[in-house]
Amino acid sequence: MKGSASVTLFQVLLIFTTMVQTQWSTVSSIYCKDMSPNVYRPHSVTITEFGAVGDGVTLNTKAFQNAIFYLNSFADKGGAQLFVPAGRWLTGSFNLISHLTLSLDKNAVIIGSPDSYHWPVIDPLPSYGRGRELPGKRHQSLIFGFNLTDVIITGANGSIDGQGAIWWGWFHDHTLNYTRPHLVELMYSTNIVISNLTFKNSPFWNIHPVYCSQVLVQHVTILAPLNSPNTDGVDPDSSTNVCINHCYVRNGDDVIVIKSGWDEYGISFAQPSSNISISNITGETRGGAGIAFGSEMSGGISEVWAEGLRIVNSLHGIRIKTAPGRGGYVKNVYISDVSMDNVSIAIRITGNYGEHPDDNYDRFALPVISNITIKDVVGANIGIAGILEGIQGDNFINICLTNVSLSVQSVHPWNCSLIEGYSNSVIPESCEQLRSNCRQTPVCYDGSSSSAMHVQKPRHMWSTSWLLNPLLKLASF
Ligand SMILES: *[C@@H]1O[C@H](CO)[C@@H](O)[C@H](O)[C@H]1NC(C)=O
Ligand SMILES: *[C@@H]1O[C@H](CO)[C@@H](O)[C@H](O)[C@H]1NC(C)=O
Ligand SMILES: *[C@@H]1O[C@H](CO)[C@@H](O)[C@H](O)[C@H]1NC(C)=O
Ligand SMILES: *[C@@H]1O[C@H](CO)[C@@H](O)[C@H](O)[C@H]1NC(C)=O
Ligand SMILES: *[C@@H]1O[C@H](CO)[C@@H](O)[C@H](O)[C@H]1NC(C)=O
Ligand SMILES: *[C@@H]1O[C@H](CO)[C@@H](O)[C@H](O)[C@H]1NC(C)=O
Ligand SMILES: *[C@@H]1O[C@H](CO)[C@@H](O)[C@H](O)[C@H]1NC(C)=O
Ligand SMILES: *[C@@H]1O[C@H](CO)[C@@H](O)[C@H](O)[C@H]1NC(C)=O
Ligand SMILES: *[C@@H]1O[C@H](CO)[C@@H](O)[C@H](O)[C@H]1NC(C)=O
Ligand SMILES: *[C@@H]1O[C@H](CO)[C@@H](O)[C@H](O)[C@H]1NC(C)=O
Repeated sequence: MKGSASVTLFQVLLIFTTMVQTQWSTVSSIYCKDMSPNVYRPHSVTITEFGAVGDGVTLNTKAFQNAIFYLNSFADKGGAQLFVPAGRWLTGSFNLISHLTLSLDKNAVIIGSPDSYHWPVIDPLPSYGRGRELPGKRHQSLIFGFNLTDVIITGANGSIDGQGAIWWGWFHDHTLNYTRPHLVELMYSTNIVISNLTFKNSPFWNIHPVYCSQVLVQHVTILAPLNSPNTDGVDPDSSTNVCINHCYVRNGDDVIVIKSGWDEYGISFAQPSSNISISNITGETRGGAGIAFGSEMSGGISEVWAEGLRIVNSLHGIRIKTAPGRGGYVKNVYISDVSMDNVSIAIRITGNYGEHPDDNYDRFALPVISNITIKDVVGANIGIAGILEGIQGDNFINICLTNVSLSVQSVHPWNCSLIEGYSNSVIPESCEQLRSNCRQTPVCYDGSSSSAMHVQKPRHMWSTSWLLNPLLKLASF
């Protein structure tokens, strides 16, 4: 009896693994379908034709602005390319247009001016209200797009360097007058590709698509000192159908972090992030997490699939951050195939993150955190396996851990409160909040509730929840 049961179990796991892999490779292509980094542009100009000098000293803001103004006349003729050859191109902030490819040659470096005057100020985001870092206006990002479609920012691994050190200094000295700028920000835009570039030393977050859809970020390297403040890698924010893959990030804050607005402003703006696919990411962060959600999540975050994360020498591996006042939700998140080495806290859910835009937030606006599945995780040199904390009166539910094997230093590997869920094959043994009652039917989120999954789901005689937790089901027989 025992022998045949374990053969069945093995077969079931095999079928399940194969099925999920097939499904997700389909889904990730559905999210970013029709997106190619290689769109042909019938017109091309080189930045030197507009008087730019790549000596690292001449300020080229006017050259970028003039070149892009000129290329606007080709927008309805198949679009155009702005080519940046090898050299060091100092510039202030400039705006992109639709149907544009900004292409950097190998050894081309776009350098952000160290003079804050060259980064104009613009209104704060509506979903953040008073402004994220300081109340009021914020500096426009170095490369900025508003209301665009069909934009490609690419290159033969050329780089974009924000010279962030000066901004980090102003931040530490409290001499900033406005919220710091990003390296790249696109607002209200669609069909965006950012690929084959290195982003360095962003003053604040590196790549920030906000109120966007159809965004593909791939083959990107992001570097900032491990102690630099708020230098997040990629921040999909109130955006849908975003794919991030094949990236290497080494920075001071979260490697990849999904957001959707802040407290009462995010709740009323109500623009969720959903359909986010993340794969093959290697990250190292001293202050953040390899993959994070929030803390700004008031517009809601759902349908997130992440696979193939390698997280080393970091504070956190996987993290959800929220607080009373946020409202919104983080649900239907499926994370698998994660390896960690030398990570202080492998998995963390924080219900009391704090940080409010002002005193007008609604203390009774509680976030819904549910359907979070984390599976196939191995970790070496882990400090603590998990700190999972919900909110009083607002338990976080359906938190599922499957096949998680961590080599942990702490004698108290898990610390859980106000959460509920399931676990299966977790080493060290998970906290009792995740040890489900055999009589309940375990319903771990398996990635299949998005509409894409309903379309793609192979017909099957068993329910996937049965497959996801065969041990519990067998135990209840
Ligand atoms: C945004 O684009 C739409 C159509 O593409 C246009 O009607 C609208 O005026 C634009 N808004 C701004 C602020 O540019
Ligand atoms: C791109 O350049 C960075 C350094 O700027 C380097 O670390 C990375 O390996 C390069 N990537 C590729 C694909 O050559
Ligand atoms: C902030 O404003 C003050 C007064 O105008 C100015 O001296 C200072 O340089 C500004 N700080 C930054 C970082 O631009
Ligand atoms: C981007 O880099 C990848 C991996 O190095 C390479 O396969 C791809 O052809 C590059 N794409 C472009 C547009 O250069
Ligand atoms: C993962 O991405 C890295 C770039 O960060 C790339 O060199 C590597 O080939 C990718 N691996 C797979 C399996 O696609
Ligand atoms: C482990 O990571 C920490 C930072 O979180 C770093 O200071 C330390 O050097 C790393 N240890 C090893 C052996 O790489
Ligand atoms: C458990 O996870 C590890 C690491 O991702 C993976 O290699 C292994 O195949 C998984 N085991 C099962 C039974 O899925
Ligand atoms: C667990 O976390 C709580 C705070 O949430 C703390 O008071 C308690 O000491 C922790 N327990 C252990 C064993 O670390
Ligand atoms: C949670 O996941 C289950 C199983 O995949 C699904 O049936 C249910 O609708 C999900 N819940 C929500 C709130 O989406
Ligand atoms: C999410 O993806 C599915 C499948 O492609 C699609 O049907 C759905 O409209 C997408 N949701 C959003 C908000 O774009």
